[in-house]
Amino acid sequence: MTAIDEIKNNIDIVDIVSETVKLRRTGKNFIGFCPFHSNTHTPAFVVFPDSGTWRCFGQCAEGGDIFSYIMKRDNLDFQQALQYLAKRAGIQLESTVPEDKTKKESQKHLTQLMEDAVSFFQNNLLHHPAGKPAIDYLKNRGLTAETIESFQLGYALESWDSMIQNMLSKGYNRDDLIQVGLVSEQRDEKGDVIQGGRIYDRFRNRIMIPINDSQGNPIGFGARILNPNDSPKFLNSPQTVLFDKGKTLFGLDRAKRSIREKNQAVIVEGYLDVILLHQAGFTNTISPMGTALGEFQIKQIARQSRQIILALDADAAGDQATLKGIELMRTSLKGTEEDILAESKDLIRHENKLNTDIRITRLPAGMDPDEIVLRNPDEWDQILNDAKPIVIYMMESLGEGKNLNDGKVKSDIADQILPLIFEVPDAIERETYRQQLARFLKIDESLLRYSRASYAKNKAEKTKAVFPDKPKLGTKSELIFDPKAGFYNKEITIMQYLYHFYDSPGSFAKIDRIFREYHLKPLQKEDFEQTDLREIVSCYFYGINQDEELSTQKYIREHIPETVKDTFAVIEHPNFHGGVNLAELDKDIARSIAFLRNEKCVFNIIEIQTLCLDSGKPENELSEYQIILDQLKRERSCLEKLLDSLNPKYRQGEYGKKE
Ligand code: UTP
Ligand code: MN
Repeated sequence: MTAIDEIKNNIDIVDIVSETVKLRRTGKNFIGFCPFHSNTHTPAFVVFPDSGTWRCFGQCAEGGDIFSYIMKRDNLDFQQALQYLAKRAGIQLESTVPEDKTKKESQKHLTQLMEDAVSFFQNNLLHHPAGKPAIDYLKNRGLTAETIESFQLGYALESWDSMIQNMLSKGYNRDDLIQVGLVSEQRDEKGDVIQGGRIYDRFRNRIMIPINDSQGNPIGFGARILNPNDSPKFLNSPQTVLFDKGKTLFGLDRAKRSIREKNQAVIVEGYLDVILLHQAGFTNTISPMGTALGEFQIKQIARQSRQIILALDADAAGDQATLKGIELMRTSLKGTEEDILAESKDLIRHENKLNTDIRITRLPAGMDPDEIVLRNPDEWDQILNDAKPIVIYMMESLGEGKNLNDGKVKSDIADQILPLIFEVPDAIERETYRQQLARFLKIDESLLRYSRASYAKNKAEKTKAVFPDKPKLGTKSELIFDPKAGFYNKEITIMQYLYHFYDSPGSFAKIDRIFREYHLKPLQKEDFEQTDLREIVSCYFYGINQDEELSTQKYIREHIPETVKDTFAVIEHPNFHGGVNLAELDKDIARSIAFLRNEKCVFNIIEIQTLCLDSGKPENELSEYQIILDQLKRERSCLEKLLDSLNPKYRQGEYGKKE
């Protein structure tokens, strides 16, 4: 038994939650007011002792196991939660995690190294003859000498070891350099690191842009090519003990004050955009690390300001604006309307959850923010002023280039936008959007005036009632797991297949595409209820998207957190008994995930209905549940369509039959 299992066996989640939440028993489960959002009206927080899980059916719409509960309650990471709970359960953790103090000491040492590296590259740029083309390039891009100095920009020489030599001469050792990701290690033909093999400068002939943590300490680099034939265009530092791409925002250290003062943060895509916007006085600008903007980052910004403006490049490939780079989308699939709608929904959920005001503004096609602001700062101001709430932005994007006098077009847009409007929890805001949509489509507002419930009914109902019935089970041959297995085992199986068969963004995207097609959100870590699996999924997503010339599996093996090694061992050594049908695998996986989601959906719908009954309140006072209930029902009808379509037998009704 792993330490994680042992903790779950030894600690009762009801006891833990009861420490801070007053729980009341209803049947098998316990309910109370959710500790993570303010509400004293509808108790929406449920603890399920059987599975050792919890879920908020209100605003948060989140759930998980005892670890995620403690992480959220005490603001801890998984490792800290594990330590805390192990201590409470009286369990000795095997992994000897370095003491906090030595960890801090070594981090200080590495930060010092990074500072010295920044100076070294800076010195190359400013004083080395080979730095001249780099300086010229930057000046050409419109950067002033002050900006170059203030952002501590630098230059990495076209050399395999100049940085290494310099750092060794300053007393750092090989291991330090490996730890901060400044060097690459020699690998054998299988791609394994050769222990004690050669190391060489990771960055060569590149402009070095130091990336700081929010306190201003250098933790990594973004490095841009000078020679247009080199690739990739930007090479970033790898994940290191100092640098976590998913948790870092470029420019935040110098933008945070201005973000707080203006109560507004502006997010752009590129490093150079941030730099040039700061230079022009738009000091509340930041960017993610070329990766998706994640929930952690949105939360981080939301703590400082209420308004977040996303200034996104118009997709150069077409006139379709994309929300490329926005959260929950790890695929770099660009822009079908469905992708974007799915993302928008997620954004609105974030907005609700974090009580922020997220707006989107689109840049003129073919122009990056840096070019715009250099041409005319007022134009940038105007672009920011034009930022629209997500719903409105989507409405206008969908209408673009279409004939809005065509009845079919109108109906189509209404169909796509109304579900977004229903996600908005505030009644006044919702009404306003509805009116705007009516005006936009030039139709009578009463046409858009279905109640939320009847809308869901209209839509879903062309299929069948979405009332709780037992999910229909597929046959074993088409699901990758035994439908009778518990949630945890099913989740493990899914992860095993992902790890072994989906090891590139492209292969993974095939699964996402199936979900998208059915208006379902892509696979995400929340699909997994257990925190250890969520940790593994995060690492997996990093693995398939990393730019480190490593195979995905190798990357994961090298980066898997110590805390989930045991669980990972199970993922690594699966037992695919009965063989794997590769030809149908995308569908089988999609179907299995859908099956699992559907089971959870039904489970949750039943739970909410119990909550509603239990409250003894009239329906109009239960709007908080209603929102989630409608979401679940809509999700369920999409899931059923997916399950239907992938399983002909199911469609022919052979499944529902009693045996
Ligand atoms: P862009 O390709 O739009 O670059 O990537 P840019 O910032 O406009 O750069 P210039 O104007 O050509 O100099 C936007 C961001 O995506 C990440 C970087 O963070 C970049 O700033 N990116 C891009 C990478 O991480 N790797 C790449 O190969 C390309
Ligand atoms: Mn650019």
